[in-house]
Amino acid sequence: MAAFTKSTCTTVSRMKSVVLFLVVLHVIVFLSTVEAVDKGNFKTCDQSSFCKRNRALEEGSSPFVAMLETFQVSGGVMKVDVMNTKTSVLLQLELHGLLGNMVRMKINEINPAQPRYEVPDVLIAEPTKQSWTVTKQDTNNMEATLTKDISIALSSQPFRVDVIMKGNVVTSVNSRGLMNFEHVRAKNWAQKLEDKDENGEQQDGEPVDEVKEDDDEDLPGMWEETFKSHHDSKPNGPTSIGMDFSFPGYQYVYGIPEHADTMALKTTVNTDPYRLYNLDVFEYELDNPMALYGSVPYMIAHNTAQTIGLFWLNAAETWIDISSNTADKSMFGRVLEFVKGDSEVPQVDTHWFSESGIIDVFFLLGPSSDEVFSQYASLTGNPSLPPLFGIAYHQCRWNYNDEQDVKNVDMNFDEHDIPYDVIWLDIEHTDGKRYMTWDKNKFPNSIEMLDHIAAKGRKMVTIVDPHTKRDSGYKLYQQGKDNDYFVKNKDSNEYEGWCWPGSSSYLDFTRSEVREWWGNMLSPSEYEGTTMDLFTWNDMNEPSVFNGPEVTMHKDAIHGGGWEHRDVHNIFGLYVHKATADGQIKRSDGKERPFVLSRAFFAGSQRYGAIWTGDNMAEWSHLKASIPMLLSISLAGIPFIGADVGGFFRNPDSELLTRWYQAGAYQPFFRAHAHLDSKRREPWLLPANNMAAIRKVIRERYALLPYWYTLFYRAHKTGIPVMRPMWVEFPSDEKTFDMEDQYMIGDALLVKPVTTAGTTHQTTYLPGEDVWYDLATYNKLKGPSSHTATAALDQIPVYQRGGTIIPRKERVRRSSSLTLDDPYTLTVALDNQGLARGNLFIDDGHSFDYQAGNMLYRNFNFLNNVLQSRTIDYNVKFTTRSWLERVVIVGLKTKPNAVELSGTLIDYQKLDFTYTPQSQSLVIRKPGVNMGEDWKITLS
Ligand code: GLC
Repeated sequence: MAAFTKSTCTTVSRMKSVVLFLVVLHVIVFLSTVEAVDKGNFKTCDQSSFCKRNRALEEGSSPFVAMLETFQVSGGVMKVDVMNTKTSVLLQLELHGLLGNMVRMKINEINPAQPRYEVPDVLIAEPTKQSWTVTKQDTNNMEATLTKDISIALSSQPFRVDVIMKGNVVTSVNSRGLMNFEHVRAKNWAQKLEDKDENGEQQDGEPVDEVKEDDDEDLPGMWEETFKSHHDSKPNGPTSIGMDFSFPGYQYVYGIPEHADTMALKTTVNTDPYRLYNLDVFEYELDNPMALYGSVPYMIAHNTAQTIGLFWLNAAETWIDISSNTADKSMFGRVLEFVKGDSEVPQVDTHWFSESGIIDVFFLLGPSSDEVFSQYASLTGNPSLPPLFGIAYHQCRWNYNDEQDVKNVDMNFDEHDIPYDVIWLDIEHTDGKRYMTWDKNKFPNSIEMLDHIAAKGRKMVTIVDPHTKRDSGYKLYQQGKDNDYFVKNKDSNEYEGWCWPGSSSYLDFTRSEVREWWGNMLSPSEYEGTTMDLFTWNDMNEPSVFNGPEVTMHKDAIHGGGWEHRDVHNIFGLYVHKATADGQIKRSDGKERPFVLSRAFFAGSQRYGAIWTGDNMAEWSHLKASIPMLLSISLAGIPFIGADVGGFFRNPDSELLTRWYQAGAYQPFFRAHAHLDSKRREPWLLPANNMAAIRKVIRERYALLPYWYTLFYRAHKTGIPVMRPMWVEFPSDEKTFDMEDQYMIGDALLVKPVTTAGTTHQTTYLPGEDVWYDLATYNKLKGPSSHTATAALDQIPVYQRGGTIIPRKERVRRSSSLTLDDPYTLTVALDNQGLARGNLFIDDGHSFDYQAGNMLYRNFNFLNNVLQSRTIDYNVKFTTRSWLERVVIVGLKTKPNAVELSGTLIDYQKLDFTYTPQSQSLVIRKPGVNMGEDWKITLS
């Protein structure tokens, strides 16, 4: 203390003022309505030295040779050395045959001067291998088969791998010769080469036999790099890796979120490559390959014959170039081809490169899209099953100011008969942005407030960001410091950055002991003023560092195990999400399912909860863009996704807000959110007709929750997305391949949200040879066709596909948990053959008990005028009080004479019904049978 002189005091308070000034400045910039993103804050490829180096590689000059004399095969693993003939550096290639139509390709240095980062915690287990059979091997070529359909061809010089399915190459590796592997080297390595004497000896006497003279020269940015005022010390020098992959026969590739761009990925010949680097981008721009908050280095290619996937397991900054022989052809070239009748096979070429790590790639060979989804889930984990409230409606804004505000909002939902499940508190609820604390003036009785909303079956979410205010009086900071839990800067001191609280440290979530401790802090005994009805929102976890390079952490910051931030950047946010979700599970002794929303994400994030698309704008264009953005994230294995309803920045007019509610009600994660500076926009503040339209669509969401919940269960079991591009359901209809203004929810509902002002009618493409039914009128429509329907302010075009059965609950309640015992309605939409089927999953809506069979999973089938309900899983122990209230059958051509119910536990009964010939619909009243029983309804 003695050393704490007046001058130290002045310096400290001056520093505090500077920090305060910078934070205030950031907030001012954040609040002002700047037109669009400040691109100058983020690197272009030219400003990122490894991107520039990889992009500059010339096709057809690969220095890599597979040394087939070193080839070994043992069961499911083939190994061969690959040499860089320019440097003589040796790499090892491993090709793993995997069970379930997958192949893994790993390339690493044989003797790296120091280990290279191999991403942990993404694969849920070491994938099960399947043996190769070598069918050909000579000095230049090798071929091996994995299954009767799948084989691999390896060429030695230049090194190339082809993945073959049923005799066709579906992916070629390094066929353009863009492979790169910057081996770990000493800084003066290039100099050593120059100094090499004639005897192969360096001046200092060290042997350098293994290097040749025409090696890589040192290029600017290899050993250090500066962006704006930020210096990257690059102690390990250049370590980038890259590879080209071509997809012959394919015209469309998808995935690699997150970008505010089209669903069908575009050629990058005239733009920067798509960038994957988790970043907090203020006012992001649409139609842009710039990086955003999350990254999943996973691409899907689809054609009429097959769907395949490519998963690039690397957590460093990554860029992907895309070109295509069809898209990149000039108009003139295309016309000429048409005239000449050329039938050139389409091909998409991709080029992937990452700043560090190893080459670790998975080829997912489908062949159907459902198989690709489950292959990806078998590697990176199935999506978790959200609690029922998680898929209901969420009310958020920055900020609900105090307890009274929360209670008023809550009460207004009841007064206006609008259901909602969760109310959210943003950063202002805390004591000075110290997360897991309360501002005691505004929230003096948080437990009483939580109990008040929980009494109506509702929940609360508070925001918990991963930056920690540097304040020794703050428990989280002090314990983090005492335990040495923070990320270090390059000089091994605690890394400091600025975020909402001002000067902050960053907990190192890559370390398991830090995650464990963080999880414990979430229990009500540590997080004071909370109950088990409180859940969590993890924001700013890219991580966002206001004064860092590109608003994130310095790449030379140091994490556990000595890894650089460079190596782990894209997985950091996943670790925050994981720590929080695991902590929530732990606070209930493993009984309750967690709910955590995260902004940053990576491959595997589907295991931890929901993701949203960050700070969008209250503009029609952003409403429209939400659809392809959500479809891309869905395809990348993360089904629980949404966009801020209403748009985060600015003020939506009432029409835009109403249309946004309609779209959001038909997207997986449904939350309204708004910026601190925007006007209040709770539904009852809008004109009466807008509020009525919003109420109607929120109620419709609640009525359809049994269908959504069943889809989430299916996603949880199989990896199949809940929100699906049209092509997933209609894989051979090429018209759907780049369709991104309409989509499917499950296999039964087609949605085309209104995304332009002044719309009165909406035209929807109804694919397939079968029939569709307008969900509002049950009018029958024939596919394939373009159907125009009215889309008045209270209408969103939604169609039920012929051949499907949808479960609904039609009682209006305040929240989803109050509907648990409510009766069901089944809507049976018959196809041309008079058939239909569907499923229903029921459990308690919140616990893990379903894993022990405490659930019902039922199959409904309509065939030969009999609707039958059977259990899919015979091991179930769950009982429900819910019963069948109504069955609506549409597309029924003739009126039945009688409708009868029978079942194993039920006496035979005649049922009341009404048939309407104009709409070909039959309504069967009160079958009254319990939903857990096996029963039949026979029309005769
Ligand atoms: C970030 C989030 C936004 C949140 C704000 C304040 O901008 O994306 O949703 O409201 O921070 O916490």
